[in-house]
Amino acid sequence: MQTGKASQPLIAIVTGASRGLGQALASILLGCDFIVVCAQRTPSKLAHRHVNARDAYLDLGDLQIIEQFSQRMRDELPYVDVLINNAAICPEDSGMQDGPPPWREVLNVNFFSQVEVTEGLMPLLESSPRHPRVINISSGDGELVFFSPEVQDLLRKVPKRRSVSHLRSVVSELLSESLERDQLSDQEHVYHVQPAYRLSKAALNAYTRTAAKRARICNSNVCFLSVCPGDIDTEMGDPHAVQVAPEEAAREMGYLLKVAQVCDTDKFLRHGQHLAW
Ligand SMILES: NC(=O)c1ccc[n+]([C@@H]2O[C@H](COP(=O)([O-])OP(=O)(O)OC[C@H]3O[C@@H](n4cnc5c(N)ncnc54)[C@H](OP(=O)(O)O)[C@@H]3O)[C@@H](O)[C@H]2O)c1
Repeated sequence: MQTGKASQPLIAIVTGASRGLGQALASILLGCDFIVVCAQRTPSKLAHRHVNARDAYLDLGDLQIIEQFSQRMRDELPYVDVLINNAAICPEDSGMQDGPPPWREVLNVNFFSQVEVTEGLMPLLESSPRHPRVINISSGDGELVFFSPEVQDLLRKVPKRRSVSHLRSVVSELLSESLERDQLSDQEHVYHVQPAYRLSKAALNAYTRTAAKRARICNSNVCFLSVCPGDIDTEMGDPHAVQVAPEEAAREMGYLLKVAQVCDTDKFLRHGQHLAW
């Protein structure tokens, strides 16, 4: 993968850049002179249209592919300035879901795989000559207020340990409890619709906090943010909500991509305002 002629080009990776918000964010980055790796299952149109866009295959449902992807990035890129973990699924969205929530499928794609990708790219982020950042695209649906006091307590305590492996095992335990004993039901522990999606975004937020706290203690300059983009007119978006076009949502997040400046870290933002975790 050629990274261009400039000595220290701006480099970003966007997951799920095939459509929706991810495609719009990749376009904004290209407009700001970034080389953008569009990490996706379905090839995007961007790589054909823009000289600085590169396609790289990434299926967040397959751990082996994630490992191959990270290895390829480490082999081919000198560093990464911006990683946007955007790809996600919400199969509960259709309202056609029968049976228990698809905990494992959703947690795997929206949480465990995002952590895997980010941890695999950490050496590249830490090599950035600028102020590198990881932007986890989250959702207000992941606010802890939607969970029982027990789940809130668990997810609040985790970042204090600053250990990503501890976070992984806490979420795994929560998941097996939900699968094996059916304890984590909408009524008992998640107080709203789309419980698997909500839990995946709350867990992703816990990762943002854990990784930010770890970076601080290790003197790493990588910043970690969770960002809720608001309601967007995409395949995943809620057609009953007041939505904006993905291009508008991406433009609004443009200020987060200025890597010459220090970035906020350990924050959950929507429209530039802080959300409660
Ligand atoms: N839309 C909203 O109103 C809204 C609100 C709050 C938060 N968000 C968040 O914003 C982000 C973008 O959502 P969107 O609205 O743009 O959704 P979208 O239009 O459904 O796009 C989802 C993207 O994720 C990719 N993806 C899904 N499963 C994948 C997998 N296993 N491996 C790799 N890529 C995968 C899709 O790729 P394929 O094309 O290959 O399927 C697609 O590029 C998500 O994190 C979502 O949770 C959205």
